[in-house]
Amino acid sequence: MNLENLLHDRLAPALEAVAGRPADPAVRASPHADFQSGAPLALARELGRPPREIAAGVAATADLSGIAEIAVSGPGFLNLTVSDGLITGTLDRLAGDGRLGVDPVADPARIVIDYSGPNVAKEMHVGHLRSTIIGDALARMLEWLGHDVVRVNHLGDWGTPFGMLVEHLIEEGGEGDHSLADLTAFYQAARAKFDGDDDFRTRARLRVVALQSGDPMSRAMWRKLVALSERYFLDVYARLGITLGARDFAGESRYRDELDGIVTELAEKGLLAESDGALCAFPEGFTGRDGGALPLIVRKADGGFGYAATDLAALRHRAGNLGADRLLYVVGAPQRTHFAQVFAVARAAGWLPERVSAEHIGFGSILGADGKMLRSRAGDSVKLAGLLDEAVARASAPEIGIGAVKYADLSGDRRGDYVFDADRMLATTGNTGPYLQMTYARTCSIARKATGGPGPVLLTEPAERALALALLGFEPAVRAAAGAAEPHRLAGHLYGLASAFSAFYERCPVHRAPGDEVRASRLRLTALTGRTLHTGLFLLGIEAPEQI
Ligand code: ARG
Repeated sequence: MNLENLLHDRLAPALEAVAGRPADPAVRASPHADFQSGAPLALARELGRPPREIAAGVAATADLSGIAEIAVSGPGFLNLTVSDGLITGTLDRLAGDGRLGVDPVADPARIVIDYSGPNVAKEMHVGHLRSTIIGDALARMLEWLGHDVVRVNHLGDWGTPFGMLVEHLIEEGGEGDHSLADLTAFYQAARAKFDGDDDFRTRARLRVVALQSGDPMSRAMWRKLVALSERYFLDVYARLGITLGARDFAGESRYRDELDGIVTELAEKGLLAESDGALCAFPEGFTGRDGGALPLIVRKADGGFGYAATDLAALRHRAGNLGADRLLYVVGAPQRTHFAQVFAVARAAGWLPERVSAEHIGFGSILGADGKMLRSRAGDSVKLAGLLDEAVARASAPEIGIGAVKYADLSGDRRGDYVFDADRMLATTGNTGPYLQMTYARTCSIARKATGGPGPVLLTEPAERALALALLGFEPAVRAAAGAAEPHRLAGHLYGLASAFSAFYERCPVHRAPGDEVRASRLRLTALTGRTLHTGLFLLGIEAPEQI
């Protein structure tokens, strides 16, 4: 049940009659009433009439009988107060509904979500952490709403660095996992040899050629590196409760045989030009720092293919073979231009038809306490495992520490940067994971201690009413979060719900309620709060233990 939609539908005819054309009632939850519409203010200028007069006209003619009262307020707002009967009736119905009143969408779409995308033989860093956590929350929400979600883990498992990595693995003896126990050290050792040893550099270059032409020994070593890395990534996903599995790995190497075709097709369509020996596309509307057209390099001057060529092939595959309606790329903000260019070139090439949307779901950086990009003492980017270890060590249980890290990432607008502050994330008050988990555990403990069972909802105190309205806000919050790919909208709603529950718990005794009926009602409100928090946290990918 979505009260905003209900009020929207009832207000719309009155608003249209007054405005002389359809107008959006824009009903929103409000601290001044249950809901508020600012539509009269928005229309006033266009109609050349005072907003309060428009509001009065709407208030006089809108049919809200049985569901709400309406009043003009301030400069021309419409304040809406929902009837108690509507609230209690709706909650009583939710009590028997496993989906808490959130029906699956009528028109499911096939949505391909590209997230995590770590690089082979490198440890995941905090940027991958954000992609993994945000992408997984989006996959969970969209899937729960009934969409057909395809998870894709676009591993960096191909390209020139693999000449150096494979050559180093061979020279290390090629056997045993020990050399990869620390992937970063392995990568750095290979890099150091590559930078400091001319002969090694030559051998590494030859190794790329051997690898790309399918030399069996080189391929076997490469596969070994990929398999070891995949195992490590799967461990991280298991630790974090991420729904990505082995079946979702679709690394860059998958497209290696399609890259020549990409170039041929783009060339045939007149979309490529040579620039300093490289083959580039120049999608319209992109300018570089020098003011000239900004190229998207499809084939490098040395004949190798880069990141962009692979992304074009992957996009063609997802829109074409996978039949996606919507493509989401959960990748950090620095790759914004890359994706905008890839999408533009794919549109021009006809690989991304009008009906398919492609969206870069960008996000900001994780900062250290000094407000700068998180770096280790050695100056390189901080390892993921270390951060998780820190949070878990300080928490009372692993799912609290992991939940704290994930919630801190999801509770702010993803576009912004945030400071990694373990103390703040782990606080049991405020907008944190542990606070929500604790509130959920409290609802479970109340239910465990209850003597009677839950019964019809009665609104006897303002705190009950506020909690009831918060419960009814779950559906709009889930839909808004999924629609805008903004998990923080759901997180914010859950925090509001938990706060409303805490206020209720303080003022409205449950076990010692005045009478059996009020107790039964409070038990129902408590049970609904518990289920809503549990479902909401599940959609964000956060565990909610029954006892803490
Ligand atoms: N491996 C890339 C990186 O670490 C991220 C891949 C994102 N996905 C994509 N289709 N390009 O930056």
